[in-house]
Amino acid sequence: MSRWPLRQVAFVGFGLIGSSLARCLREKQLVERITASSRSAATLRTAKQLGLIDIGYSDAADAVRGADLVILAMPVNATEQVLRSIRPAVTAQTVITDVGSTKGNVVAAAERVWGRVPAGFVPGHPIAGSEQSGVLAGRSSLFANHKVILTPLPDTDPRALALVESLWRHADADVLTMDVARHDAVLARTSHLPHLLAFSLVDTLARESQNLDIFRYAAGGFRDFTRIAASDPLMWHDIFLANREAVLQALGTFEAGTQTLRRAIEQGDSETLLGIFTRARAAREHFTHMLAGTAYAKSMTSSNELIFTVQPGGRLSGRARVPGDKSISHRSIMLGSLANGVTEVSGFLEGEDALATLQAFRDMGVVIEGPDRGRVRVHGVGLRGLKAPPGALYVGNSGTTMRLLSGILSAQPFDTVMTGDASLNKRPMERIAKPLRLMGAEIQTTGERGTPPVSVLGSVTASRGGLKGIHYDLPIASAQVKSGVLLAGLWAEGSTSVTEPAPTRDHTERMLRGFGYDVQVDGATVTIQGGGELTATSIDVPADISSAAFFMVAASIAEDADLTLEHVGINPTRIGVINILRAMGGDLTVMNEREIGGEPVADIRIRSARLKGIRIPEDQVPLAIDEFPALFIAAACAQGTTVLTGAEELRVKESDRIQVMADGLHTLGIAATPTPDGIIIEGGQLGQGEVISHGDHRIAMSFSIAGLRAAGPIVIRDCANVATSFPDFIGLASRCGLRIQASERSASQQTDA
Ligand code: S3P
Repeated sequence: MSRWPLRQVAFVGFGLIGSSLARCLREKQLVERITASSRSAATLRTAKQLGLIDIGYSDAADAVRGADLVILAMPVNATEQVLRSIRPAVTAQTVITDVGSTKGNVVAAAERVWGRVPAGFVPGHPIAGSEQSGVLAGRSSLFANHKVILTPLPDTDPRALALVESLWRHADADVLTMDVARHDAVLARTSHLPHLLAFSLVDTLARESQNLDIFRYAAGGFRDFTRIAASDPLMWHDIFLANREAVLQALGTFEAGTQTLRRAIEQGDSETLLGIFTRARAAREHFTHMLAGTAYAKSMTSSNELIFTVQPGGRLSGRARVPGDKSISHRSIMLGSLANGVTEVSGFLEGEDALATLQAFRDMGVVIEGPDRGRVRVHGVGLRGLKAPPGALYVGNSGTTMRLLSGILSAQPFDTVMTGDASLNKRPMERIAKPLRLMGAEIQTTGERGTPPVSVLGSVTASRGGLKGIHYDLPIASAQVKSGVLLAGLWAEGSTSVTEPAPTRDHTERMLRGFGYDVQVDGATVTIQGGGELTATSIDVPADISSAAFFMVAASIAEDADLTLEHVGINPTRIGVINILRAMGGDLTVMNEREIGGEPVADIRIRSARLKGIRIPEDQVPLAIDEFPALFIAAACAQGTTVLTGAEELRVKESDRIQVMADGLHTLGIAATPTPDGIIIEGGQLGQGEVISHGDHRIAMSFSIAGLRAAGPIVIRDCANVATSFPDFIGLASRCGLRIQASERSASQQTDA
């Protein structure tokens, strides 16, 4: 089969799409000869004058004779007639493709003409166009960064497919393939239905007697919504008839939606209206980010790399409040959603991880207003009110979301799949799946290492009578596993208890109590009974001690620092960082201690100190599990050796935090020796250089504060995920006195993948 440049490409029909493609072929010199047929002699004349074709014909068969590639670019309803006329003029070697907006009817037409679709026929659909039509409207950039869907059939010749794929790639399009029926169903919803609605709305208004006035006052909303009603009527007439079934189905679903809205308005049903609008807005934002090449978790898929550059030195002083606690923010959405009534949350962390939890519950039908400057209103649906999500739940970088949700989803009567980003997809999920299976859950992880995606077959568990309470001895100290099991226990028959090998954060237990649920704690064992109810409450999320930790270390290692961090959560299961820094000689004063909504809170004043290396007590490890990257920077600035043991968990966090920190410290001239369950760090002089965070937010922030004591600039790569836990880190760090800047490096400048 032919290769580029081709000898002859023939177009049947030469309007906007055909002429745009011809412009690409010409500009990139991909073909020696272009022929075309058109019903309009004027079109062919213009095409010739513009140099887009060599010869024009009124008859399609004449145009395609001898062509290597035939591109059908005429209205879809002419397909059968055109195929009949070109049939004698093409050979088994000719590759044929089309650009029609519907595919089922094109394939059916080819079947009628040939008996079976020829192997060289590759149906296609560029999702590009404009309200304008005709040869003069064409431009070579029309397809750049637009999608082209090819719908090859089982018998399609792979070489023909490859040729058509490369044709569209030369036009800078994104090529994807799907089957014919799916194409037509997807397009009916995403393209045909909106056109139908736009035509209908404009026509309905135009028929009203005062239409002129109405149009005069019609502002942005009307204009935005109806732009596509200026499209070619004949083309759309053909499309709706060609894709009749799929369009009718999409229209039916839409009509049901408008009926629901009508009823809600009639009945003043704010809950339903808010529910639909908040979900739609979130979905639309998600979609906007996707179109911009970013997921709602913006950082996860951006093709540009975020880089932090820290200049050495800087003084830390003043007062600062770091963003809300991540663990508590997750749980406020989860328990708020499962409660009866409306839960008001303030101080919510608007970071990507907590937003992933929020999105997951929206996907399961919960109305959630906000977040708006930390305020969120969760309209709880009760323990039996979650609905099956429309698709897989994407939880981004958030291990907490995935593990806690595993427990909740195991008890729902519907099936769900959870997926995550590249980092989360490497993290162990069997640790939560195992105890849930013991409770009767049907839950599957992926691959030999038991990683995401995680699928939960709630319907199977429900058909077997639901979950049963268990007693579980946690093999590892993990608050996520403890919480996942306890949350499943809300629905389980009888009591569910968990014994932990060392104390881990107890936010789930505290918050369950805040929602009026009885939780028994006896030493290392937590027990709950299934079958209760949660009652909505209000939650004031304290500042996250894990985010505060960077500033605790920063102020400890900087010269002349005196910094006060306000409203920091000092839950005893989280204060390892304070204990360890103090043991290293840190000067930290905990002031103004109070309890807010069941969680202890305080202001913490930190002043510069001469730190010394220590052997970190193993009992502090679970209490400081997220703070070790920052503590390693403290160790690097301390006098003497710091030894950490019993912390193998660090190897399965957002990155292998032992190895990644050791590598970065090494680059900066610090002797850091990783061990299987910890690290040995010799305090010294931090140098300068480029370190890689491996997409781990806490690594990126740790090396940022290292700049305070470095000999030269530190460049930190791959920092976008800082937004998962600390959205305005750069702003706050700069205000406190760090000399830090963020910049983007475009994908093409990147040196490694
Ligand atoms: C968390 C528990 C910890 C911690 C994570 C948040 C939680 O994980 O590292 O950032 O909110 O329960 P493990 O329970 O896996 O140690």
